[in-house]
Amino acid sequence: MVKKSDNPAVSYRIHCAEELPPPCGAVIFGASGDLAMRKLIPSLFGLFQKQFLPDRFFLLGFARTEMDDAEFRHKIGQRLREAASGEDAEIEKFADLCHYLVGDYQTADSYRRLSEALGELGQKHGAGDRLIFYLSVPPRIYGGIVEGLGKAGLLDEADGEVWRRLVFEKPFGHDLASARELDRALAARLAESQIYRIDHYLGKETVQNIMMLRFANTVFEPLWNRRYVDHVQITVAEDIGIEARAGYYDRAGLLRDMFQNHILQILALIAMEPPVSFAADHVRDEKVKLLSSIHPLSDRDLSENVVRAQYAGGRVNERWLPGYRQEEGVDEASTTETYVALKLFVENWRWKGVPFYLRSGKRLAAKSTEVSIVYKAVPHSIFHPLEAEDLAANVLKLSIQPREGMSLSIQAKRPGPKLCMDVLDLSFDYHEVFEPTPIDAYGRLLLDTMLGDQTLFLRSDNIDIAWRLLTPILEDWQKGESALAALHFYPAGGQGPREADGLLARDGRGWYAL
Ligand code: BG6
Repeated sequence: MVKKSDNPAVSYRIHCAEELPPPCGAVIFGASGDLAMRKLIPSLFGLFQKQFLPDRFFLLGFARTEMDDAEFRHKIGQRLREAASGEDAEIEKFADLCHYLVGDYQTADSYRRLSEALGELGQKHGAGDRLIFYLSVPPRIYGGIVEGLGKAGLLDEADGEVWRRLVFEKPFGHDLASARELDRALAARLAESQIYRIDHYLGKETVQNIMMLRFANTVFEPLWNRRYVDHVQITVAEDIGIEARAGYYDRAGLLRDMFQNHILQILALIAMEPPVSFAADHVRDEKVKLLSSIHPLSDRDLSENVVRAQYAGGRVNERWLPGYRQEEGVDEASTTETYVALKLFVENWRWKGVPFYLRSGKRLAAKSTEVSIVYKAVPHSIFHPLEAEDLAANVLKLSIQPREGMSLSIQAKRPGPKLCMDVLDLSFDYHEVFEPTPIDAYGRLLLDTMLGDQTLFLRSDNIDIAWRLLTPILEDWQKGESALAALHFYPAGGQGPREADGLLARDGRGWYAL
């Protein structure tokens, strides 16, 4: 158990500065959609409740669905009440800041009307000429929206006081070629400083804590390398299936949905070198450098070190859950993967020879995101008859969700006979130590966008290197006959495919999570 330090000999300064953003407005494209209603608007409301929104702010929802301001506000109120997010009076006050405009994403007229509406709302709410455009729409229309905004003069900035920031939801491209094409289209109209490519995992407190843990402490960093670390495991397991997203998911698959972004980001934070400072580009430089050091997967790796699988039907708590191919909207012969495990190596002085085992899957036994840094065995055991391998390795576990915290397992003397040891966990649980998280992941990222802080957003070169790494796998899977041969199955609600256990068992190891 860990608690906040009350040792008078410890001199430290708590520095919890939260800058407040300047007055601004936000436009959500796709405002009637699922992401906007489920995540974005509740997160903005969260910022409003905690008084992190600028005191002069407005939200304009833009989408094709016919609705007026009153209906939009009603929908928002309903959603926030369902989520029991706040008091009625608070919800109404927030809803008063929300407006709605119907329009399509292609015609010049839509952008002309948008421009007019923004002029009026800017004046009405005193929000100045600072705007966020959040593109919560399918990526294939990103280019058209940017083009439309550009032609309507809505992307022009001036002297720091007039800014335009565009937030793009993933997936950012479908593969390397389409990501580069999209990048070129955006670069033609926007400066990199205007582009906020979001990865909501980077907004999670415990993901951010990886940097604090590593670079605000001295004890971990000397042990954070090939001399002491045996291997690293990253698990991102979900118990949900694909929900109602078959249209997107069957084309994307898990590698694009989770690895290209979330998992490679966690890996980069775990393995990167210390950045020069916490400034956006210093952090992003190190992440890119790390991803560039990952050894490209050879043909042999593809057959031996990548496991791809799909969930079949399974029984969970007396309830039968359908297999992926039986989900509504999924082709009954689909070979789309819902699970991937892979082993890779980082080719640099720090990590040479240390395997990183990464895995993620849907419809597993539980929702759990964990990183385990597994240390080497002691070099020699003095505790005869126990051999060095009999002593369990120290494992530093970072639990990212659902229960945020961390633990370090150690060997300790167990009271009783002279030679008696046990494995203990020194653990720390965020919820027991801190107040509930003041800002959720989307809220954090929205706030950073208003503040112009791109540290937790992905830079163009990061997207590129992530696609470059995964392209050989995607191409291998597209090769027809071999695709089916390499697809394994696991029961819904289980631990994942046996083959993923085999990936570690072959190296004499086992998974620490799930
Ligand atoms: C999204 C994926 O990016 O992350 C989803 O598209 C996935 O498929 C989700 O379910 C997981 O996010 P979280 O925050 O619930 O772990």
